[in-house]
Amino acid sequence: MKQTPYQTPINKTSIPGVIVKKWKQELLTHNKKMPSDIRSLGDSQRLKWLINNEHGSVHDLWEAFTTDRDLLPRYLMNPKKQALSYLLGFHLPNIARFQMVFERLSERYMWRDFWKSIKSTPTFIDFGCGSGAMSISWLSAIYRAGYKGPTHLSLFDHQAALLDMARRNIDALPFQTTIRSGKVDLTKAISSVDKNLNKIEGVTNISLGYIWNEISNNHRAQHKLIELLGKLESKETILWLFEPANQNQSRKAMELRDQLISMGYELAYPCSHSAQCPMLERSRDWCYSEGHWQRPIEIELLDKRLKLDRSKLRTTAMILMSPKVKAKLADLKRNSDQIIVGKPLKEVKSNLPKKLRARVKEKKKFDYLLCGPKGISKITPNHPEKSCMSRGEVLDFE
Ligand SMILES: C[S@@+](CC[C@H](N)C(=O)[O-])C[C@H]1O[C@@H](n2cnc3c(N)ncnc32)[C@H](O)[C@@H]1O
Repeated sequence: MKQTPYQTPINKTSIPGVIVKKWKQELLTHNKKMPSDIRSLGDSQRLKWLINNEHGSVHDLWEAFTTDRDLLPRYLMNPKKQALSYLLGFHLPNIARFQMVFERLSERYMWRDFWKSIKSTPTFIDFGCGSGAMSISWLSAIYRAGYKGPTHLSLFDHQAALLDMARRNIDALPFQTTIRSGKVDLTKAISSVDKNLNKIEGVTNISLGYIWNEISNNHRAQHKLIELLGKLESKETILWLFEPANQNQSRKAMELRDQLISMGYELAYPCSHSAQCPMLERSRDWCYSEGHWQRPIEIELLDKRLKLDRSKLRTTAMILMSPKVKAKLADLKRNSDQIIVGKPLKEVKSNLPKKLRARVKEKKKFDYLLCGPKGISKITPNHPEKSCMSRGEVLDFE
């Protein structure tokens, strides 16, 4: 049956309660600056106090991540403060971003069956783990997908405050996992994984969560990482790459995607093909995903203070797989291979009266820019003002 866009419900990602609960508990341990009268209040009042007091640092960190990563060292001067700001502002949204992508993979592939069928212990190697968002999302997602065995986790970060926080965040959750962690620079972390490659048995998951651009000046680390991924290409490997949805950072991730494809990797998300990225050909284009999530009330409050609305999350997410993994997932469920990569506002003919042009914009009439095996194309949806399809989704109507 043909679907019209306005029949498509908005999918909202919802983070499991146990993860949100642990997040709140960890936040509440950062109470050194809390006045004694606040300390005696209940959890929600204390969290409110924390948000009111810390939102400025979250804002600064946000600016550093999204506009100018060269500013980052300034915020790294106080690692404990940065760890708290990161936990408060980015931990849950990053979990939601990962989860959204995992859910979309489940719509496209026999993804749950894949995880259920795994016999050897899978490993998740979290380079630049921060507060542990990527590891937590992966663990939660694969166990929810039906995987029942044990897992191995390797956490690496050069900041002790974040690494310790990641451990605490994961330890408290009911997952059957053994954790190895190293407070080391990325170059050392990569060497240590490289040395132990022959000990890895099951599917190896490499996580690069918001780290590739952060090491853009560290050519040695980037080079070593590519070398490691080269060695992992002949094994069962999945690469989870996340970056901000900004033009510069996104395009760097797209370039990495192309480089990995030339090394033999194949795309699982967002692309429906493993040819070179057609969006890189046009200097002003970049590819990112977006989706809605159920914000906990504390995040809603924080967003109000930040004057941001993060009910719709954006991210540049690229999930690549080695041929051995991709072969197991060859069974595509969906018929369409057109992915929404842009929603350009509909061109308004310049000879239209000004009033009418404004109305067209107001109604947010747009086309869909689609990416498929034959490159980029454009379609005009019938009911654009009611459409709720997001970038990164498979077009499910004609
Ligand atoms: C933007 S945070 C991302 C954290 C986490 N991966 C996530 O997605 O939420 C980047 C992390 O990488 C770590 N990092 C940055 N450069 C590093 C390096 N050269 N060696 C080790 N860790 C590094 C930082 O300390 C920080 O925790």
